[in-house]
Amino acid sequence: MPENILIAIAWPYANAEIHVGNLTGSHLPGDIVARYHRLKGNQVLMVSGTDSHGTPVTLRADALGKPVEQVYKEYHAGFLELFQQMGITYDLFTTTHTENHFKVSQAIFLALRENGFLFTQKSMQWYSPDARRFLPDRYVEGTCYLCGAEGARSDQCDNCGNVLEPEKLVNPHAKTGDGALELRETEHFYLDLSKLEPAVTKFLQERAKRMRETVLGESLGKIEAEGLKPRPITRDLDWGIPVPVEGWDGKCLYVWFEAVIGYLSAAIEWAQIADQPQAWREWWVNPAARQFYFIGKDNIFFHTSLWPAQLMGVGEQFLKIFAEDEGRLTIPFDVPANQFMNLEGQKISGSRNWAVWGRDALTRYDPDALRYYLTINMPEMRDTDWDWAEFVARNNNELVATWGNLANRVLSFCYKHWDGHVPPIDPARLAQADLDLLAAIEAGFESVGRELEAVRLRAALQEALRLASEVNKYLDTSAPWLQIKTDKDAAARSTYTALKAIDSLKLLLAPFLPFTCERLHTFFSYAIPLFGKQVTEPVQDSLGEHTVLRYRSGGQEGRLPCQWKPSDLQPGTKLNQPAPLFKKLDESLIAEERARLGK
Ligand code: MF3
Ligand code: ZN
Repeated sequence: MPENILIAIAWPYANAEIHVGNLTGSHLPGDIVARYHRLKGNQVLMVSGTDSHGTPVTLRADALGKPVEQVYKEYHAGFLELFQQMGITYDLFTTTHTENHFKVSQAIFLALRENGFLFTQKSMQWYSPDARRFLPDRYVEGTCYLCGAEGARSDQCDNCGNVLEPEKLVNPHAKTGDGALELRETEHFYLDLSKLEPAVTKFLQERAKRMRETVLGESLGKIEAEGLKPRPITRDLDWGIPVPVEGWDGKCLYVWFEAVIGYLSAAIEWAQIADQPQAWREWWVNPAARQFYFIGKDNIFFHTSLWPAQLMGVGEQFLKIFAEDEGRLTIPFDVPANQFMNLEGQKISGSRNWAVWGRDALTRYDPDALRYYLTINMPEMRDTDWDWAEFVARNNNELVATWGNLANRVLSFCYKHWDGHVPPIDPARLAQADLDLLAAIEAGFESVGRELEAVRLRAALQEALRLASEVNKYLDTSAPWLQIKTDKDAAARSTYTALKAIDSLKLLLAPFLPFTCERLHTFFSYAIPLFGKQVTEPVQDSLGEHTVLRYRSGGQEGRLPCQWKPSDLQPGTKLNQPAPLFKKLDESLIAEERARLGK
């Protein structure tokens, strides 16, 4: 029975380009797990989109002096290009600025309200009489009332690291130069997380065995220590999703409250576009569906506490409001959040341009070379470092030496000596050493699969590479290039064995190295590709037009068949002309890349 697997990836803010830290943090691990499940024949839905609302985006638009609508669209277009080039195969990558997302978010809000989880409360907020608007906390700067540092944000001081109460800030002024500020009363909706705390605690306890310790500590550990407190979920803003309550004009839903809802609304939009308007339910109204959330460590609270609280809080009310139907929404299965990747020993910083940007790196390196380094060095348990010398070394000594050369050497040798065909041997005559190798590789579908199931991607890739070295060892001993001079039958058998092993390794490595494995797949002249294709297309709605990225599976109808199984390569099969899959990188580029960083 195929399983329903939702791959949910953090929605990037439309305020900066995506760098290697973002890629290894969420997009790439999500894509690897999605591809693995697709190869297994499972029903995968991988969604995300551009987080277009919130002050990070409006601040960026102000800084650029452009309308926010234009700014979010420009970043969005860059994201789509990057994902296509990097092979991040979203079934749907959309944005939060769509009519569908507005409707779904408002329905979630109303369902929570009907279920008694919302209340309103008045508070004081900085107001600019000149601009005639309330200013978001991030817009207001002043002197920290705790440590006296200048330039503290009204909600947080970067100098002493404390969370601040905005109305206590000394000498407040707007970053945007909106004139003198005064405190005014405002009213907001709050999500009563304290009422949902028992449900969230139970949700986390039930997943304690599966979740990473780093994630549990940030979630269950924090709740046990501090409890869950009510949080305001509306803001005085005009860019965002209007609060669906009469008399609340000029207020919007808080960006985090609505962005997480994107995982649900994107599934609904995907189903509409795919012309199967009910299909989203297979991942969202199905307790057996498994949902994986790929995020960075700064997003943990929102995905392990806030989002499950929203989902459990709406109960049956969401489906009633949204679809006049019955049922409950599925809750997350796992939240395998990653730590951070630094760059050459320092924290990545977009504003200081201390970053390796995805699109820029792809102008100089192949996607699979980047994917290899970003996976083998993924910050699964602790922060890791992007180091240019290590990038070159691992590319040359592991990716090229252990795997690329193996595939190229054996395929070229075979192509040349058997006239472009797999050696026409009799499989019954394979030697024990041949059978042992094939059995070892076959076991990889279990061992690599187990690591992938548990989202231990570094371990999964290491295991696949270890199996590649087994083939190298086998070839060192059997040495078909020498055998062929004296015993062509023996050479045929060991070449066949190595080819078959490589054909299996191609599958074990495909989730990590999809571009080169797809090419290798064509050298073996298979008719059905490993993966589908990505396309962009415009979507019209009442808010205007937005462009989405979609993934179309390769089969004519629906998904590709299960391909996650050992090679069944037939003797005598016609091959296609092979070519090297990877490039060796010159040492000189280490200094070049460091110079590019200004190092
Ligand atoms: N935009 C947020 C960030 O970049 C992440 C949002 S994830 C979502 O940190 F779940 F809220 F969508
Ligand atoms: Zn301070």
